[in-house]
Amino acid sequence: MEDSFLLEHRTTLRAMAEFGAILVYFYICDRTDLLGESTKKYNRDLFLFLYALLIIVSAMTSLTKHSDKSAFSGKTMQYLSRHQTEEWKGWMQVLFLMYHYFAAAEIYNAIRVFIAAYVWMTGFGNFSYYYIRKDFSLARFAQMMWRLNFFVAFCCIVLNNDYMLYYICPMHTLFTVMVYGALGIFNKYNEIPSVMAVKILACFLVVIFIWEIPGVFEIFWSPLAILLGYTDPAKPDLHRLHEWHFRSGLDRYVWIIGMMYAYYHPNVEKWMEKLEECETKRKFSIKASVVAIALFVGYMWYECIYKLDKVTYNKYHPYTSWIPITVYICLRNCTQQLRSYSLTLFAWLGKITLETYISQFHIWLRFVDHLNIRHA
Ligand SMILES: *[C@@H]1O[C@H](CO)[C@@H](O)[C@H](O)[C@H]1NC(C)=O
Ligand SMILES: *[C@@H]1O[C@H](CO)[C@@H](O)[C@H](O)[C@H]1NC(C)=O
Repeated sequence: MEDSFLLEHRTTLRAMAEFGAILVYFYICDRTDLLGESTKKYNRDLFLFLYALLIIVSAMTSLTKHSDKSAFSGKTMQYLSRHQTEEWKGWMQVLFLMYHYFAAAEIYNAIRVFIAAYVWMTGFGNFSYYYIRKDFSLARFAQMMWRLNFFVAFCCIVLNNDYMLYYICPMHTLFTVMVYGALGIFNKYNEIPSVMAVKILACFLVVIFIWEIPGVFEIFWSPLAILLGYTDPAKPDLHRLHEWHFRSGLDRYVWIIGMMYAYYHPNVEKWMEKLEECETKRKFSIKASVVAIALFVGYMWYECIYKLDKVTYNKYHPYTSWIPITVYICLRNCTQQLRSYSLTLFAWLGKITLETYISQFHIWLRFVDHLNIRHA
């Protein structure tokens, strides 16, 4: 190789070297005893203390006011801005990592909700993108798939792991494909409300058909069983696709809810702009009622659903996970100040959720631990 070639491709080579180093590091952490092992002890006070500390630090250093322009009205964007979604991802991600690190089975149900929120965002973000940009090019789609899966693919190869162990990736891949399909098919007619209603309905029907009717799931996915199959050493007699059925089934509806929110997003945004222009008293009473209703619904959900034990909760989860998500969205955006501020530190963490998620398994936990937690 000549010097000029090396110089020209310096950044690529550097990225490749770094990537290789990361994989080697994973291997050392996960498969050798070089770095020693520590036993985990869960301590709720420490858990909460560390989390509060991070919030305070990030509030002191990175509270930022944004004034993005709306893609729809040209006015300042308030509703579901990118910064907020990323911040949301970020703080969930931190709890997620801490949950795994401390093995905090206590917040298992909360983790379910967070994963649902990510899937909701997949539906929301992808819908908005395809609906507004109308960019259905295969190149762009392939790029997205690559971004979603290449890291995991290399981890699977280097560590000889099953793809299903990183179930977040196949799950988001699946729902991204579904949104792409829902909007891409007959995309010329996306602007017509009745066509969109039929599409949303069709999404529900597809999900009901595949997930709810016994036996269909196994047949439908059997061609991909090599990729998506997984046998839990602790429960060897379950169907190979059981894990995939369980994981994908938990959030089978929430991506459609995300799509619906994205579809109505411009209307809500307009309504909120109008609300801000109302006279103070009226504005205040409307906002107070929204907050009161949200708090009440959130409380009811917490009492009746969230507090259930893990197994019962999982049964209700697919049908109820949209409730806490909606409550959060209402509360997070109830005033203009709340809407326009976000914590950049968390937003930055939110941008690298996929990478941190994958890394934690290898660096913080060994797979053995990881399995115990997942099935505990
Ligand atoms: C509401 O809050 C959520 C969560 O932070 C965010 O994604 C969204 O941008 C905010 N806007 C509204 C009103 O939905
Ligand atoms: C679609 O969803 C996937 C998975 O969450 C995400 O990686 C991707 O960035 C999303 N695409 C857009 C355009 O928002």
